[in-house]
Amino acid sequence: MATAAFADRGADLELVGIQKRFPGFTAIEDLDLTIPAGSFFALLGPSGCGKTTTLRLVAGLEEPTRGRILIGGMDVTAQKPYQRPVNTVFQSYALFPHMTVLENVAFGLRRRKIDDAVGKAHEALRLVELDHLAARKPLQLSGGQQQRVALARAIVNRPALLLLDEPLGALDLKLRRQMQLELKGIQEEVGLTFLHVTHDQEEAMTMADTVAVMNKGRIEQMGPPEELYEAPRTAFVANFLGQSNLLTGNVAGTTNQAISVDVAGHRVVVPRDRARRLAGTVTIGVRPEKLSLHRETPASDPARNVLGPGRVSDVSFSGMSTQYLVTTPGIGTLVVFAQNKTFGPMAQAGDEVWVSWSIAHGFGLDDDPAERPGRAPDDDTRNVAVHKRPALVPERGEA
Ligand SMILES: Nc1ncnc2c1ncn2[C@@H]1O[C@H](COP(=O)(O)OP(=O)(O)O)[C@@H](O)[C@H]1O
Ligand SMILES: [Mg+2]
Repeated sequence: MATAAFADRGADLELVGIQKRFPGFTAIEDLDLTIPAGSFFALLGPSGCGKTTTLRLVAGLEEPTRGRILIGGMDVTAQKPYQRPVNTVFQSYALFPHMTVLENVAFGLRRRKIDDAVGKAHEALRLVELDHLAARKPLQLSGGQQQRVALARAIVNRPALLLLDEPLGALDLKLRRQMQLELKGIQEEVGLTFLHVTHDQEEAMTMADTVAVMNKGRIEQMGPPEELYEAPRTAFVANFLGQSNLLTGNVAGTTNQAISVDVAGHRVVVPRDRARRLAGTVTIGVRPEKLSLHRETPASDPARNVLGPGRVSDVSFSGMSTQYLVTTPGIGTLVVFAQNKTFGPMAQAGDEVWVSWSIAHGFGLDDDPAERPGRAPDDDTRNVAVHKRPALVPERGEA
């Protein structure tokens, strides 16, 4: 079995210049990706962006139009699915209903005439903490338990690489959160390489060491979750991974430390090392939780940007925090998240307020604002978070 040739601790996966064309449609444009052995890697993107296609290519269920796939340094592009040291856990986990949990997990090993299939199946079930239910039938288990059986069935084969295609999609929110932590724990324990595909940004950030944000068959940005969140490179990443306040204007000045951008007559400063463009028309952003709301003109502080006065146009309470929408002439609408450290909101709809944030928290995108689709000519300071997010919500399955 080829699997034995691979390191016990998983194997590097490399996709080199992959393109996948379906008749009349290019699902993957040009994908280069290296996933180090033993990592938990998440491919995150909206529905239809090419995530499942990528997994099917790695599993050998689709053939690339162009490019190569290497696992543990070995070119597997021409290999049949069963020859590859890969197992896949799909969203619908299709267990055999007439078999017990144990028989389900041992099935593949028995068919391949592997020694001690039952012992190995028990071991995999212990890992997912279900060995005590080994004699049950799948229908006597909850959804989360069935999902864990499917996982045990995949890891019992000790694949070098485990592919997970939205495996938690069928679970309710609470169970999904619990399974996310369990899955991460299992990955750390077995040390296999996990390639997890999801459209849920929170899931990707909670579980993965590295997240790649995919849009229309391309990877827009890749890195540790904190890095993607705090320094997004494009408007798509800024809005798909959390929410962002985006402002567009011309660079009016640069120093060694910072760029200063004229946004509809307001000066907004961004640290130079967080700005991806230093001249011309740029789009800059800041996360809603980095903003502070003020009822009076804030005292001038060279370390902070201030916008206002504006008016609170909406207040929505969500328990831990309250979201305020602040509309400022020329700027558009900004989203502010404020933690509810006291009872009651800080401001009501209609109140006059100012918004400020630490200059250190801003970021400058690499996007060419002129190329951004759907922009009205007089709308150059619109808030993309407010306008774009509703369109993303149904795709992310939050609705
Ligand atoms: N066999 C196929 N023939 C034609 N188009 C396909 C086929 N499989 C997938 N696609 C298209 O490729 C795109 C990416 O699909 P997929 O990888 O399933 O996306 P995701 O998993 O990110 O939702 C979609 O637009 C989909 O319609
Ligand atoms: Mg899919």
